[in-house]
Amino acid sequence: MATLAAGNDTLRYNGVARAFHAVIALMVIFNLVSGIGGEAIEDIWNPFPIHKATGIMILLLSLARIGWRLTWTVPARPATMGNLQRLAAKVTHLAFYALMLIVPLTGWIMSSASKYPISIYGLFEWPKLAVAKGSALAETAGESHEILGFLMAGLVVLHVAAALHHHFIIKDNVLRRMW
Ligand code: HEM
Ligand code: HEM
Repeated sequence: MATLAAGNDTLRYNGVARAFHAVIALMVIFNLVSGIGGEAIEDIWNPFPIHKATGIMILLLSLARIGWRLTWTVPARPATMGNLQRLAAKVTHLAFYALMLIVPLTGWIMSSASKYPISIYGLFEWPKLAVAKGSALAETAGESHEILGFLMAGLVVLHVAAALHHHFIIKDNVLRRMW
């Protein structure tokens, strides 16, 4: 048992998985902050063009990440983790993968109905979907974007708190597996 636990202590996610995780995490944090605080600072600086471009990048990177994720299995977690903790990690991670696709998709649908372009950092224009302004689809997408965005913010707080709890309180290697 001791050897097993010691073995688990050195296991890490592969480099590509860690790179995807770090880049997408930073982009998601930027989008949550700019989405929630955007209106308050709009008169000084309008973050929404960059918010939209970064959101589309999150969608594309997440598709690539999920494709990559299907090619390997998670390195065994520390033997000290209980069943409830394992389940909580699994549910949160699955919810993240879903939100990393659905939140940008609802943003894309909502923004397709607006008069403003979706510019990818001023380099080129992202195509819009056929969504009429004021349509039920545009309204539902807008509401879902807000509700799911806030749900994602809550999950990020929980996820980061769990990672820091593992690192500083339990003192296992869970944080080091991913960063
Ligand atoms: C994972 C990616 C994304 C996250 C986490 C995110 C998050 C958010 C959040 C939390 C808000 C504030 C909601 C509110 O108070 O109404 C917001 C607003 C907004 N988002 Fe996103 N977003 C993402 C992707 C996108 C994409 C891809 C687009 C468009 C192409 C987009 C367009 C917008 C717009 C236009 C608003 C302002 C809505 C309004 O004025 O009511 N977002 N976003
Ligand atoms: C902000 C957006 C973030 C998202 C969307 C996100 C998403 C994810 C996902 C989907 C996984 C599961 C990987 C898999 O097994 O397939 C994961 C794992 C992990 N994340 Fe994040 N993450 C974010 C931020 C962070 C931050 C800021 C930290 C550290 C403070 C962190 C620490 C970790 C750790 C340690 C793991 C591995 C957990 C384990 O081995 O069970 N994440 N993350």
